[in-house]
Amino acid sequence: AKGKFGEGCVLSFGEDGTRMREGYRDYATAIENFEIRDDDIIVATFPKSGTTWTQEMVWLVKNCNNLEGSSADIHQRFPMLEGCTLQFPCKTEHWLRDSIEYLNQIKNQRFIKTHLPCSLLPNDIKYHRKTPKIIYVVRNPKDVCISYYHHFRNIVGFKGGVEDFFELFINDTILYAPYWKHVIGYYNIKHLSNVLIIKYEDMKRDLKAVIIKVQRFLESEPLTDKQLRLISQRLDFEFMKDNEFVNHQSFIDARKREIPQLTGRFMRAGCNGTYKQEMSTDQILKFDKWIEKNISNTELNDQYWF
Ligand code: A3P
Repeated sequence: AKGKFGEGCVLSFGEDGTRMREGYRDYATAIENFEIRDDDIIVATFPKSGTTWTQEMVWLVKNCNNLEGSSADIHQRFPMLEGCTLQFPCKTEHWLRDSIEYLNQIKNQRFIKTHLPCSLLPNDIKYHRKTPKIIYVVRNPKDVCISYYHHFRNIVGFKGGVEDFFELFINDTILYAPYWKHVIGYYNIKHLSNVLIIKYEDMKRDLKAVIIKVQRFLESEPLTDKQLRLISQRLDFEFMKDNEFVNHQSFIDARKREIPQLTGRFMRAGCNGTYKQEMSTDQILKFDKWIEKNISNTELNDQYWF
C-alpha cells in the first residue's frame, strides 16, 4: 500500500524510528534545539485524537476575557512546531511553512501544537531544562485509525481503501507511528506536574468538567458560569464545524487546488465509535488483540478502548 500514499506524504524516519515526513530531515536539528519557554503551553497528540478541539479549548480558557480574539486561524494562534516539515506542494501560510521562525518571534505567551512523540521533543523539554505545560490527548485508537484514514483519503490523497489503511495503522507504517510508543511515551511522564493527559471520550461525555480540569491545570483565572457556557458553545462540534478559524478549510482549499479530486472536510463525524461502521468484526477483533498486546506490560488499560 506504500504507493497509495498521496504526494506530500513520503515518509522517512526520525532518529528514534518514528515515521516522519520526508521534510523532517531538514528540520530535525532545528526542532531539537528549538528554545522552549517556561510559560509555553503545548498540546501534544497522536494525529486525529482531538488536537484541534483541545487547542481551541486551551486557547478559549486562556483568553476567556477576549473571546473575539479567536477570530484568527487556529494555525496562527496555536502554530504547529513541526509545521515546517509539511512541505506541501501548495503555498501554506507562513506560520505553518516557517513554523520555527514564526514561533521564535512571538513575544507573548505561546501556544504550541505538536504531534511529535516525547522522544523527538526539543531538548529543553527532554532534559527538563524548561517546564512548559503539556496537555496530551488520547482517543480510542480504533476511532483514531478511522479518522486518520478519512484524513489521508480526503485531505492528503491516499488512494487505498479502509482495509489498506487498517493494515498500515496496526503495522505502524503511518505518519507519527509507532502509535503505542507515542501514547506510552507521554503516559510515562504523566506524573510530572507540568503534564496533563485528557481523553477525547471524556470531552464528549462531560465537556465542562474537562474545561475546568484544564483551567486548573493551566492555573488560569477561574471561569464564571457565563464564560464556561460560552466556551462550551464554541467547542460544540456543530459550531466548530462551520467556524472557518478552526475547521482548516482554507488549508484544505489550498490542497484542493493541487489535487482537485480531494473531497475532504476536516470536521468529519465528531463522535465516538464510527469505527463500528467501517471495520469488520474480524478487524475489530484483530485491532483489540493489537491493543492488548501493546498494553499488556504497561499501566494502560482504558475503558474507552474496547
Ligand atoms: P472524526 O474524523 O472522527 O470526526 P485532530 O484535530 O486531532 O486532527 O482530530 C480530528 C478529529 O476530531 C475528527 O474526528 C474531528 O471531527 C474531531 N473533532 C474536531 N472538533 C471536534 C468537536 N468540537 N467535537 C467533537 N469532535 C471534534
